[in-house]
Amino acid sequence: MSTSPQQWQTLWINVNLATMQDGGNSYGSIENGALAISQGKIAWLGAMDDLPAFNNEQVEVIDGHGAWLTPGLVDCHTHLVYGGNRANEFEMRLEGKSYEEIANAGGGIVSTVKATRAASESELFDSALKRLNALHQQGVSTVEIKSGYGLDTTNEIKMLKVAEQLAKALPVTVKKTFLGAHALPVEYKGKADDYIALVCNDMLPKIASLQLADAVDVFCEGIGFSKEQTEQVFAAAQKFALPVKVHAEQLSNLGGTELAARYQALSSDHIEFLDEAGIVAMKKANMTAVLLPGAFYFLRETQLPPIDLLRKHGVNMAIASDANPGSSPINSIQLMLNMACTLFRLTPAEALAGVTCNGAKALGLGDEKGQLAIGFDADIACWDIQQPAELCYQFGVNPLSKLMQVGDIVIA
Ligand code: NIG
Ligand code: FE
Repeated sequence: MSTSPQQWQTLWINVNLATMQDGGNSYGSIENGALAISQGKIAWLGAMDDLPAFNNEQVEVIDGHGAWLTPGLVDCHTHLVYGGNRANEFEMRLEGKSYEEIANAGGGIVSTVKATRAASESELFDSALKRLNALHQQGVSTVEIKSGYGLDTTNEIKMLKVAEQLAKALPVTVKKTFLGAHALPVEYKGKADDYIALVCNDMLPKIASLQLADAVDVFCEGIGFSKEQTEQVFAAAQKFALPVKVHAEQLSNLGGTELAARYQALSSDHIEFLDEAGIVAMKKANMTAVLLPGAFYFLRETQLPPIDLLRKHGVNMAIASDANPGSSPINSIQLMLNMACTLFRLTPAEALAGVTCNGAKALGLGDEKGQLAIGFDADIACWDIQQPAELCYQFGVNPLSKLMQVGDIVIA
């Protein structure tokens, strides 16, 4: 990529930049700045006063009039594609039943599996498009979407194909994660090892050959799969050179995170019950901690993730919506920014890093997305705010004024 001003195509002027190059220690701010784009990549950024001479006729200039630019937001953990909803279980929980009790009584994830299997590809697409569009309108330019409500080969493939279609329908980068080991489908009751064999020997090879997954995830939990079963899926993923991630330590500490670290996982997600040994293992393996305040809030959990220990060991913290029908029916990244601060006590800079640079790292995109930096994709959100903390502070009025995806304005 040429960074020469003669090659610039677009130039933002009179903008403040939250570059997010500092991993959440600060916003990496440049006030009264400018940012230039060449071939979909960031070619220059700095203070207006340092702007080099450029070819006026060739460059489209966007005057930000003092707006703030951040990297396009990254929602690195969602289950956006599903059939039906679970409002009835919400009512049951309000009457005193726990998430685990409902799951053990045949509700929970398996009830969404029933609705997802019954839905056609186009029905799933239509409902997921609304959710994805809601995130996009809030500045999300990269999203991860998991399977995991099909739980048989045909329906897991169906879900991932819907995710693939969504990527074509909206100017959003979509990363697809195969989560076949999300829950035990009813037809495998008492035969969890047989189901894991199906995941490893049938689903995974087919999904890998169709190139429908960028990563493989497992729900390692009492109501999910054991550490041994999780390891079998990780080993199978390794054969197809697919990176792994894990839902772990959400309701108890089974050691899923340490196991994932042995497989150089991209991330461990939820982690309310993670201990210091697990955190040290994450740091050594350069994993990202994905914190999900929506699920914590919606399940009315009381065990906070070990934020201070994550900070102490310098583990990157991402924040995501976990948008799903059971534990986080919340399609709002802006609400997650607020909850990361109010519920988890992250600083606004840490929260913003969670949905930019660190969200990108959790998807293996840490060198391409999530920062305003030379050579990075020109995914840029333009906000009508006076200071970056407003993105975490106020909720309910959408401050997004423009969104750029790989150099193209997609929301004006
Ligand atoms: O990330 N923890 C497991 N999976 C989802 C919940 C899915 C559901 O309840 O439907 C989560 O919280
Ligand atoms: Fe999840």
